[in-house]
Amino acid sequence: MANVTEEQVKAALATVKEPTLGRDLVALDMIKDIKMCSGLVTFTVELANPAYRLDRKNLIKDECVKVVGALDGVESVKVSITSKVQSAHDPSQKKFAPDVKNFIVVASGKGGVGKSTVSMNLAVALSRTGAKVGLMDADIYGPSVPLMTGVSGKPTLKDDKMQPIHKFGLKLMSIGFVLEPGQAVVWRGPMVHGAVQQFLTQVEWGELDYLIIDMPPGTGDAQLTIVQSVPLTGAVIVSTPQAIALLDAHKAVKMFSDTKAPILGIVENMSYYECKKCGERENIFDTGGARQAADELGVPFLGEIPIYPDIRIATDAGQPIMAGDDTEHPAFQAFTTIAENVATEVAKRNVVKGPPKILPVVGGAIEV
Ligand SMILES: Nc1ncnc2c1ncn2[C@@H]1O[C@H](COP(=O)(O)OP(=O)(O)OP(=O)(O)O)[C@@H](O)[C@H]1O
Ligand SMILES: [Mg+2]
Repeated sequence: MANVTEEQVKAALATVKEPTLGRDLVALDMIKDIKMCSGLVTFTVELANPAYRLDRKNLIKDECVKVVGALDGVESVKVSITSKVQSAHDPSQKKFAPDVKNFIVVASGKGGVGKSTVSMNLAVALSRTGAKVGLMDADIYGPSVPLMTGVSGKPTLKDDKMQPIHKFGLKLMSIGFVLEPGQAVVWRGPMVHGAVQQFLTQVEWGELDYLIIDMPPGTGDAQLTIVQSVPLTGAVIVSTPQAIALLDAHKAVKMFSDTKAPILGIVENMSYYECKKCGERENIFDTGGARQAADELGVPFLGEIPIYPDIRIATDAGQPIMAGDDTEHPAFQAFTTIAENVATEVAKRNVVKGPPKILPVVGGAIEV
């Protein structure tokens, strides 16, 4: 029986396509640690997407076992599947938060469409996949993260750096942790700009695969500071399905495209209401509008979240639905799918298309 070579194993694996990146596993440099020992071949597939569902990971594994198992001289094949999130930028080029691999903003043109709910649950969903995740609340006038997480503590200082608060496996920062409860923010533009800059530069974020940034509604000072200061991997736009909200989603997409920040896609929130008793579907705010808008704008559609009172109840109780253990809940499933799709779009940008260009530094923004 002929001894199989590493080249033969690689040639076989070069026929296995990564399912969403459109290239094969060898071309994407995802095959690691090939070892061969008397008919047994072992290797690791290092995916760029930690959020793939188990069935997708198993398909990749099965395909690898099939093609390598068919080689002459191979008796058994052992495949480990791991993942490593790629960075959207060169860390040596960045003057702050150098170990944050991907900055992702969650934005909308219109208020109250569910940005904070999506940010929170997306962050927890990504963290449940084993990724290192942070959540930064950029809403200076109406911070939501303290309520959504039930955290009231103050961040501590260490070596002049603010330490993020840890909860649900996330690193968290919000102006709400710094202010006294009930204290209103009456700051003007430059102060908002300063607060957001401090969250980016003075917080010890450490190593993160994804930093999710929950944006305030509209296109004001906080938004501008972020799009001008941060080498964003991209923006997730949240919209409800009705026409008026979509118009604002179009505006939000335009704001990011104008600053050359990539759009990762659109999420449709409050898609429909499903009656718990009879299962009937009510399209309270119409339905499918965001999917159509995504098509029109040529950006990915990342998924839809129905209206579930449980989402609001869980959020108000400081225990987001993704942090609970009802993994069969349709809202849990919806956020899991959205996290998978967001991680896929990030991987597409970082692995296939290469890192986006670093944004030009304008008027008082942080140098990157
Ligand atoms: N899919 C959903 N089902 C039920 N309730 C939801 C859903 N999405 C959001 N909500 C609720 O709707 C309200 C508004 O959501 P959220 O605060 O996330 O919106 P927002 O876009 O961040 O608002 P703002 O523009 O004020 O920052 C919250 O009470 C939240 O719990
Ligand atoms: Mg909000």
